[in-house]
Amino acid sequence: MNVSSRFDVTGFGVVVTGGASGLGLAYGEVLAAHGARVTLIDLDAEAVAAQASRLQGAGLDVRGATADVTDHAALDRAIDEAAAIYGRLDVAFANAGIDSGVGFVGAWAGAERPRVEEGALERYTDERWNRVIDINLNGIFATARAAARHMRPRRFGRIIMTTSLAATTVEPAIGSAYMAAKAGVRHFMHAVALELAAYGITANAIAPGFFVTNIGGGHAHNPDVQAAVAKDIPMHRVGRPDDIKALALFLASPASEYITGQEIVIDGGWGLGGAD
Ligand SMILES: NC(=O)c1ccc[n+]([C@@H]2O[C@H](COP(=O)([O-])OP(=O)(O)OC[C@H]3O[C@@H](n4cnc5c(N)ncnc54)[C@H](O)[C@@H]3O)[C@@H](O)[C@H]2O)c1
Repeated sequence: MNVSSRFDVTGFGVVVTGGASGLGLAYGEVLAAHGARVTLIDLDAEAVAAQASRLQGAGLDVRGATADVTDHAALDRAIDEAAAIYGRLDVAFANAGIDSGVGFVGAWAGAERPRVEEGALERYTDERWNRVIDINLNGIFATARAAARHMRPRRFGRIIMTTSLAATTVEPAIGSAYMAAKAGVRHFMHAVALELAAYGITANAIAPGFFVTNIGGGHAHNPDVQAAVAKDIPMHRVGRPDDIKALALFLASPASEYITGQEIVIDGGWGLGGAD
């Protein structure tokens, strides 16, 4: 049996939040390269316009839209507009996310993990906590809700959320808002999967390990950080956005029809523990 037609996403209408950079950009690129029509939605107006025009220049059907996922009315408008242009919405990547700040970034330096900072919890501000939850958890909820409104009447849809390996690990308070949000998204994904299965809509999550993107001010581009992290990864290297594309295409395509409510970890084996 030749299953290649099961991966056909030609003509699919797709939205990707956080689509101007990193993993979201990779999701958008791979779907468009396989014939889908893609709207990259991002807070960063300049970056999303630049990426959309780069991909249009390569002959792909990609447009950019500016919206902050914490502004649910603006997010609804961006998703409704994409669905109206395409006349359908088949796939939504609920992906936009930020890390939780300087302490969290420091934790990736690799030397001593987990690193405990005295008083870190007491110093954790409402502002920092709420911002991370608002983007990384509430933004995912609002994206899935807006997408489901378009998918349910057509009895088809793929909702793919980006969680994190961090959802399955526990570190001290410096990273707690991020980890709480990602674990919350995983739980939400399970609930959405149960609710929408009757309508041919699947909900799954991609849980990346360490990928070189612009998150956290771009610390992942630092070769010293990469080398330190790679030591703990059985595949002995960090991930690149290209590494996630095949999984994104699979989950977005008809091929994943019988898979829902799953969180797929893609991390070179980091979750297995140290390789040394
Ligand atoms: N890079 C990793 O190692 C890694 C690991 C696990 C999970 N993740 C998750 O992957 C997702 C994508 O992150 P990335 O690593 O590609 O980072 P990135 O910073 O390269 O890309 C994130 C994009 O989201 C956009 N964004 C941020 N806040 C937004 C908002 N409020 N509204 C709309 N857009 C917003 C940014 O402008 C940026 O373009 C995040 O949810 C992140 O938590 C990343």
